[in-house]
Amino acid sequence: MSALRLFAALVLCFVAIPAAAQIAPSGSQIVASADSPSHVIHVDVTLNGEGRVGYIVSRQGKPVIAESRLGFLFTDAPQLLRNFVVGGKSTRSFDETWEEPWGEYRTIRNHYNELSVSFDESKAPKRRMTVVFRLFDDGIGFRYELPSVPGFTHANIADELTEFNVAEPGTAWWDEGREWNRAEYLYRKTPIEQIGFAQTPLTIRTNSGLHLSIHEAALIDYSSMDLRRVADRDLKADLMPSSTGAKVSRDLPLATPWRVIMIAPDAPSLYKSAQIILNLNEPNKLGDISSWFKPMKYVGIWWAMHLDKETWNSGPKHGATTANAKKMIDFAAKNGFKGILIEGWNVGWDGEWFGTGWDFDFTKAYPDYNLAEVARYAESKGVGLIAHNETGGNIAVYEKQMDAAYDLYQRLGIHAIKTGYVADAGGIQALGPDGKIHFEWHMGQVMARHHLKVVTEAAAHHIAIDDHEPIKDTGIRRTYPNWVAREGQRGMEYNAWGAPKNPPEHEANLVFTRMLSGPMDFTPGILSLKGKGDTPILSTLAKQLALYVVIYSPIQMAADLPENYEANPKTFQFIKDVAVDWDDTRMLAGDVGDLAVFARKQRGSPNWFLGAVGDEQERHFDVALDFLDPGRRYRAEIYRDGPDADYRTNPRSIVIEQRIVTAKDRMAMRIAPGGGAAVRFVALDH
Ligand code: NOJ
Ligand code: CA
Repeated sequence: MSALRLFAALVLCFVAIPAAAQIAPSGSQIVASADSPSHVIHVDVTLNGEGRVGYIVSRQGKPVIAESRLGFLFTDAPQLLRNFVVGGKSTRSFDETWEEPWGEYRTIRNHYNELSVSFDESKAPKRRMTVVFRLFDDGIGFRYELPSVPGFTHANIADELTEFNVAEPGTAWWDEGREWNRAEYLYRKTPIEQIGFAQTPLTIRTNSGLHLSIHEAALIDYSSMDLRRVADRDLKADLMPSSTGAKVSRDLPLATPWRVIMIAPDAPSLYKSAQIILNLNEPNKLGDISSWFKPMKYVGIWWAMHLDKETWNSGPKHGATTANAKKMIDFAAKNGFKGILIEGWNVGWDGEWFGTGWDFDFTKAYPDYNLAEVARYAESKGVGLIAHNETGGNIAVYEKQMDAAYDLYQRLGIHAIKTGYVADAGGIQALGPDGKIHFEWHMGQVMARHHLKVVTEAAAHHIAIDDHEPIKDTGIRRTYPNWVAREGQRGMEYNAWGAPKNPPEHEANLVFTRMLSGPMDFTPGILSLKGKGDTPILSTLAKQLALYVVIYSPIQMAADLPENYEANPKTFQFIKDVAVDWDDTRMLAGDVGDLAVFARKQRGSPNWFLGAVGDEQERHFDVALDFLDPGRRYRAEIYRDGPDADYRTNPRSIVIEQRIVTAKDRMAMRIAPGGGAAVRFVALDH
């Protein structure tokens, strides 16, 4: 930071609007600057000789994002890119602490300085583009606002020209964007210079050890953003296409989703920086939903289908029969699970449904499944049904039936739906304004609209949504807390039939990438450690337990078959005991793709849980238990890999032991190759 800038930052609090022109290293003029509340993060906004707008981000005086361009292309209007002059600037500060109705933290602080700069085209058509930056101490968000002006009242956006030009070399963890399998690709670990077309969140560790993640917040009525590398370390926004040609079509004025760069000194702090995503969303619009949605663990008629032991479709192996459902409800009630998912209950699965969805009826059950009776039986046992709405990616069919279906579910006391959009990327069928079927992308503007429609209509019927093959998570759960979870990466099902299966490092990758966006319905807890045809899952037993603490979701499935839980009562005990809602979350140790050790405090309870996952190598951790209440004793119920455990040779080796601990103690553990650890800390009397 130059002496002049430091002086300005002190005197003007956080905003330095330079009197004399300051020049960026590229030669551009710095037209506005701002600091985060504790002056950790600094942003310069620039204009170059062609009147092109850029921004530069630094942390503690070191460049993080080198000058990066901003602007738009349109399908029916000249680009919004050059000939800009500054039309106005404003600043404000904001600091509030808000409460999550459910989540990883009870309270979240939203503390930022905002800098808003308006740019006017000096030549016709003389439009305006405002860029609003929010600077947090652990990252930034910025978005565009396009006002309506005469001659420019509707935007048909061909693409957004936002760049993220990473200043320093480093390693990136990223998954393939714009490919047929949507969000379900294994993470690649490459130098930044080898990124091709990536989805977000995209995570980077720079050579100096800084941890960054690029993502977006509040994806509302807009296409989601992938990142395409255009030069060296310069990543450019590339919006999801749409069938109409323009990637986004909106009346003006409009505000885009927030473009977010999380910036943290190490991997554990990066995880907490993800709070920025929630902070950039609007506050809760639904009020108190706790009378109809509470975080829960659930079981279901599900894994058997993925193992090919039962079927979604009708026939001799049909899974969703009334008798089967009642058995599963009894199992849920006996073991304290509050939810039960039943897939394949409604007609439509018999023909071609994948990417088709024309036959699905969301109110009509198969003849061997009595929906009303199953719902009554579940209620009598204190278990809630989770309705399954697989659409095959056909939102034309689904949107037509939504109202009637949600009415029916509400009447039957069903308060949760798992939706599904199984179709190849680009294979969503939607009804266009012309009354014809159009093919769309899962994460395009049409689907951003569709998901919001589902979530708001579901809320009106007191129903929570868990969507598979979803749109990416951008924190909208803050605004609509009935949007409780989603899939959006490779979950446990890949361990049934995946080729390849999820590798041992998968979850240690997820924590620092996909999980920065929000809760994942991963469906853990396969204690058999076997997939389809008894093929091995690449995990130890202890790791299956750890996943409940490591992979956050307010709904967690105990995904295995009841007989596998009954055969493993001692390990099953942890799944029965583990919490699903938290007052606080701390990552105690972590390295992207290698290790993640979490401590989470059960909401409304003095009890804590620890969960740790490693990768294919043996890993070790040694952490202070100073998160525990000082002066209190806890019984640590420990589930750890046995000394001879190894996912390849001895995955079932586990040590279950108890120890009394206090906040002054430490806990050291070995994680086996492919392993993990899970601990419940039960507070004892003082
Ligand atoms: C894919 C989902 O991820 C899975 O959970 C579900 O069972 C199938 N689709 C069928 O809807
Ligand atoms: Ca690794």
